[in-house]
Amino acid sequence: MPTTDAQTFRILVVDDEPDIPGIVRQNLITFGDQVRVDYAADADEASAMLEASLYDLALLDIYGKGKLNIGNEVYRRIDTGGFATRVILMTRFVLKQEDAPKLLQLTGGPSAWRLAGFIDKNASLDAEIRGKVGQEVEDFRAREAKIAGIDPLAREIGRRRYRYKKKLTADQHLLRKSQTEICTEIDRLLRRLYVDLPGALQRRASRVHVELTAMERRGLSAAVVANATVNVSFEKLSTDNAGHKTVLKIGPKADIFEEAGRFFEYVRFGVELADRVELLAVAGVDTLGGLVYSFAGGTYKNELLALDEVLIEDMQSGDLQTSKEALRSFFTSKIWYAVECPPVGVSEYFSENYKTDLSRSYRDGEEELLKLVDRWGAWPRVVRRRNGQEDLGVVLKTPNGATLELPDVSVLGLGRLAHNVDTCLIHGDMHGGNVMIECSRREGTGTRKVHRTCLIDFRSTGPGPRCMDAVALESSIRLADAGLMTERFDVGKTPPESVQSEVADYLAHCLGSELALYRFVFLGVGEPPIDHWTLLAVALLEELKNCFGDLELREYLACSIKYSIRSLGFPLNDFARLRISAWLAALYVLARELPS
Ligand SMILES: Nc1ncnc2c1ncn2[C@@H]1O[C@H](COP(=O)(O)OP(=O)(O)OP(=O)(O)O)[C@@H](O)[C@H]1O
Ligand SMILES: [Mg+2]
Repeated sequence: MPTTDAQTFRILVVDDEPDIPGIVRQNLITFGDQVRVDYAADADEASAMLEASLYDLALLDIYGKGKLNIGNEVYRRIDTGGFATRVILMTRFVLKQEDAPKLLQLTGGPSAWRLAGFIDKNASLDAEIRGKVGQEVEDFRAREAKIAGIDPLAREIGRRRYRYKKKLTADQHLLRKSQTEICTEIDRLLRRLYVDLPGALQRRASRVHVELTAMERRGLSAAVVANATVNVSFEKLSTDNAGHKTVLKIGPKADIFEEAGRFFEYVRFGVELADRVELLAVAGVDTLGGLVYSFAGGTYKNELLALDEVLIEDMQSGDLQTSKEALRSFFTSKIWYAVECPPVGVSEYFSENYKTDLSRSYRDGEEELLKLVDRWGAWPRVVRRRNGQEDLGVVLKTPNGATLELPDVSVLGLGRLAHNVDTCLIHGDMHGGNVMIECSRREGTGTRKVHRTCLIDFRSTGPGPRCMDAVALESSIRLADAGLMTERFDVGKTPPESVQSEVADYLAHCLGSELALYRFVFLGVGEPPIDHWTLLAVALLEELKNCFGDLELREYLACSIKYSIRSLGFPLNDFARLRISAWLAALYVLARELPS
């Protein structure tokens, strides 16, 4: 099989004897260009090379110039750098007594898996290399996955490299710059995910083919997601089946491990298979980590839609059945919500779980809103509220005289919102992009039949405020409404004044409907509004109240106000930003009406 650069087994020799790499090369000559041997004379040179290029194996000379320095030091740097490189130690000397504990200290740690062997340079060096290093190469060849479509994925990851910077501790190295190196890392990742068996299990004769196609997505996380179709074939047997569909998610190693950890701890035995995807594999290499999930649907040629798409479609047609069913399903079955956890502070939850600084989100959101209003020019008008030097947030004014007041987080010390709230196991990021709906169309009528609603993306799963998932869905309903505004007011970057005033009046209308909706659901006052989005919100909140029995507006607002402020800090399009503002303004009115 021809070897691409990414499939070459890379060996780094670190030794003060410059003829060693030549000897290694000579003894691996049978592998031809399937092996690359590079050389570093000291630890600093080795570090630079490890940073620039992925190495599968490092041959480290224990004593450089008679001191226990090269081997030790490079081993340590490989460890702290988080590289997946395995190590073979070499020496020509007898280990000095005082050095033995130092070496055991280093190699006997949690990364002991790294140590692949020891070469005695005084024995037959050639035979040692052919045997021990050769075996590593053989193992590597046997674990090859045949992969198609690696390049576009590597480019997509490369484009997000700035998102990797934030994730690193001082010792860890950055995503490598070169496209080949990213491809190489993906190759190693896919071997671990699709070929390797857990623990000491041995492979038999199967070969794995993976075909990758990138998935269109707008996510804010550093991760990229691809469809990965997997074929397992056996020698002498042809396999022309369509392959098994999986979803591959690649991102910063720490994020990926965090997501996998949450899955194994909370989801694996906690949520029925019928309601979620299955995590099939997880692995990490140098900077990248990867997860393989089962496909969220797709049997029997059914359609797979994210709830976000279904919401827009349904609100447009007025047939809200599918959306309602999906919005309610998780609260009806109580899959997560029956597991109670100790109470948490809502603010603590936001900063610890979402790593969100709410004042920062508010400032970013406010700044973007002011820019938008400036750019539009006519409506909505904006007034800053101040108390002396202190900024108290902004007020949007509409042509029909309505005002939308957005609370600065500092104003939220109302003393009326719940600080500590009841918690249970929650998904933690249940927006409409993380709820997948598998459905088919009924002949003739074209109406949908839902086969399954399926949760994906468990990177925020764990104990949390019990309203949080419903709040995320609520926000998706508002964003879907904003999506419809985008269609209704089909205008470029700056709508004409007449449209601006129409939009502003619509926001005022939303404010009224929002208030009526919450007063109806939580306070039993008045009639439910009949906009499509409010009907969906009512259905969702009624189910939420059924699920928890004793849920009060105070608790709901504590979560939803913070959630909407967090959303405002995200990159949103104009209509979405305005629509979330209208939602937040309504929540703020309700908060001020609460008895203190
Ligand atoms: N198991 C799956 N089956 C089908 N599609 C999936 C699956 N997992 C992910 N996807 C698709 O990939 C997208 C992103 O996946 P995921 O939500 O896990 O990543 P993320 O990094 O959290 O993205 P975001 O920031 O958009 O939430 C999903 O919105 C969905 O369209
Ligand atoms: Mg997601």
